[in-house]
Amino acid sequence: MDTTEDVLRRAREILTHPTTALDEAQAAGLVRICLERADTFKSLCRDHGSPLYVFDEEALLARAHEFTKIFSESLGNIRVFFALKSNSHPLVAASLVRFGTGLDVSSGLELLTALEAGCTDIIFSGPGKTQPELELAAIHHDTVTVLMDSFGELERLEAAARNQGRQIRAGVRLTTQENGLWRKFGIPLSELGTFFEAARGFPHVHLCGLQFHTSWNLDPQAQVDFIARLGSCLGALDRAHRGAIEFIDIGGGYWPSRGEWLQWEGTPEGRLFSAAGWLPEVPHKHYTCPSVPIRVFADQLSRAISAHIRPLVDCVIYTEPGRWLVNDAMHVLISVIDQKAGDLVITDAGTNMIGWERFETDYFPVINLTRPSLAERPCTIFGSLCTPHDIWGYGYYGAGIEPGDILLIPCQGAYTYSLRQHFIKPLPEVVPLQT
Ligand SMILES: Cc1ncc(COP(=O)(O)O)c(C=O)c1O
Repeated sequence: MDTTEDVLRRAREILTHPTTALDEAQAAGLVRICLERADTFKSLCRDHGSPLYVFDEEALLARAHEFTKIFSESLGNIRVFFALKSNSHPLVAASLVRFGTGLDVSSGLELLTALEAGCTDIIFSGPGKTQPELELAAIHHDTVTVLMDSFGELERLEAAARNQGRQIRAGVRLTTQENGLWRKFGIPLSELGTFFEAARGFPHVHLCGLQFHTSWNLDPQAQVDFIARLGSCLGALDRAHRGAIEFIDIGGGYWPSRGEWLQWEGTPEGRLFSAAGWLPEVPHKHYTCPSVPIRVFADQLSRAISAHIRPLVDCVIYTEPGRWLVNDAMHVLISVIDQKAGDLVITDAGTNMIGWERFETDYFPVINLTRPSLAERPCTIFGSLCTPHDIWGYGYYGAGIEPGDILLIPCQGAYTYSLRQHFIKPLPEVVPLQT
């Protein structure tokens, strides 16, 4: 348990190393690109009403192409599985399946979405899979690889596959952190040998792979560190078990290179002030936690795999990107309904559209397509839910703002649409962006 002194020392560190200010030219650059398509966005509202989700297939496919190219160049034989949880809209799944990626699903519902999208290469990961979910996987044994989460799931998968009279391809997920909340996922590295031994008693499960996943990586360090640990574990593993490994799935968690953009409330120092019950007036400013280009992820992962895995195991590398592929592939369009003060407007859409109070802590530009400008003006942009936490932003890019104006919040493709809630307001339509 930390002492008061330790906590105060950490607080001092936070306050003396403030989060980097966002280069506003970077945000304005994104705004400029969006404004080039202002007429197209506005015509979508004319044709379909407001609010809307706009699906940008071209952006999705450009990302899929870039990711696959860079990872293949660096890592050689790889297979990409899009993490459906990051955006579960069927158009997204269908588009990526046509492109040629596999899908990573985490529930029976997602498995059905993947099958309906025509996907023939599916990995099914996640803790606590139910017996009906495992049965569904076993029925589709020719397209699904189950990434088992525990010894108990090994037994349950055997029963499901036996019931279907099939053998199913499977891997096992490895715990990346043996303490804290992340220990809920997978088995500890120290139990991998025992797991392989146990799997010999389950003839309907063909254990041939390993998986791990770390999240929210602004750079590849967490993945690289785990690959080194995995290499040590593989070195000590029985040669026959090592020989059975056909794939190692290194998970997702690649942060887009734009970095994480934050409101002051989302920075460590903002959270500290807030915990202390002190909410000073802060200047209208944004912050960033920088990330690295996807090439850096690929190159460093490649180096770690060459050093720690390749000398021991000859296998295909699987990867499960979600956010990196889909972040820029969906945008939100909303309209101003009411203006209650010069610096306070209410829009027609609630943040139930994105499922969480994202913009209290995250920053993304709100762009007034009706009165375009590259200058950002302070104004609280509320949604219309009966909660004060229903906020789209604390400013807008525009020459003014009035009822009837159409606002764009770009790049809302990851962990927003799939977290949407049917709360108070109906859920908007998803429309494709015509190019
Ligand atoms: C097992 C697994 N794989 C992949 C992902 C995708 O992560 P990201 O969207 O950060 O790439 C997740 C996200 O939670 C996950 O749980």
